[in-house]
Amino acid sequence: MKAVVIRCNASGAALQDAEIEMPACGPNDLCVAVQAVSVNPIDLKMARAKPAADEKPRVLGWDAAGTVHAVGSEVKDFSIGDRVYYAGSVLRPGCFSEFHLVDERLVAPAPRSLSWVEAAALPLSSLAAWEALFDRMRIPQRSAGARAKALLVLGGAGGVGSMAIQLAVQLTDLHVVATASRIESRDHCLALGAHAVIDHTAPLAPQLKALGRPQVAYVLCLTEPSAVWSDLATVLAPFGHLCALVEAAAPLDMNLLRAKSLSFSWEGMFTRAMFKTADMVGQQDILRQLAQAVDAGVLKTTLKHHLGPVDARHLMHAHALLAMRRTIGKIVLG
Ligand SMILES: NC(=O)c1ccc[n+]([C@@H]2O[C@H](COP(=O)([O-])OP(=O)(O)OC[C@H]3O[C@@H](n4cnc5c(N)ncnc54)[C@H](OP(=O)(O)O)[C@@H]3O)[C@@H](O)[C@H]2O)c1
Repeated sequence: MKAVVIRCNASGAALQDAEIEMPACGPNDLCVAVQAVSVNPIDLKMARAKPAADEKPRVLGWDAAGTVHAVGSEVKDFSIGDRVYYAGSVLRPGCFSEFHLVDERLVAPAPRSLSWVEAAALPLSSLAAWEALFDRMRIPQRSAGARAKALLVLGGAGGVGSMAIQLAVQLTDLHVVATASRIESRDHCLALGAHAVIDHTAPLAPQLKALGRPQVAYVLCLTEPSAVWSDLATVLAPFGHLCALVEAAAPLDMNLLRAKSLSFSWEGMFTRAMFKTADMVGQQDILRQLAQAVDAGVLKTTLKHHLGPVDARHLMHAHALLAMRRTIGKIVLG
């Protein structure tokens, strides 16, 4: 089958079009005929990871939409021909290939109202946003009360932020303040429903004060946390909750959270798949709920850039855009 592989040599790593062996399903696997994929910062991290000396060419990519082509002997929830979408497991080969294996517990039917490229934009970043808001920070779902408490989404215009804003505006009672540093990214956050936007390149506390929201109950941190740690401790209200998705570049001072009894969580979208947790099927549930909300018109796709078919040339272009850290919404190929 066709795939885009990453080969490492003395001068670094390069993406190349290749023919690789067709994979065979394990008992719980779906073999998916991939129609569209999206790219994520994890692809860049995995591309830069030091390969083992004897390592074969690797396939990256953990966001796909496609049709079930074959099923493993113990698959219960899917049949050949089903339209599906998923992020999968970072411990297995990625989805930048014609066919791809994924455990059915991580997969759900794709939103009926979306094209392949619109659907492929969603899984990884939406799972991360959903798990952070509802599983890690346990933010209550909407009761149509006043939006008394606030959420700060640090990095609102990227892939995760674009879904986090929508989830918080549509499914919770929170007042949503996003951050963006450019006019285009600011406009994008407002178009997704953010109630206010501040600039992450300037101190946060005075900007929140100027909005009349000097303290927030929740922070979703979608950037390296150590650089903003003390600012975030300052703007969080007593008993507030901070959830971070990006590995810290320096030790985080937990004592800064003590006086206000603040809570801190990491969100790792791949934790369930990596450790095969008992609630691994929870990702299927989230993707099902997400698809229903999309089909009901409550949430929309975060697709922003459709670059072309899945091949090495287009993936290199996608990686170059991602590396700039200025992406608005999601970059998709298919
Ligand atoms: N732990 C997990 O499970 C998980 C899952 C998904 C992603 N992540 C991580 O979460 C981060 C965000 O992912 P993503 O897919 O949303 O990335 P992305 O799409 O590449 O994010 C791009 C956005 O980042 C914003 N940005 C750049 N510098 C920033 C800063 N210093 N502070 C705040 N925002 C900044 C930019 O906004 P402006 O242009 O307005 O500056 C841009 O819109 C990445 O580091 C990724 O590796 C972790």
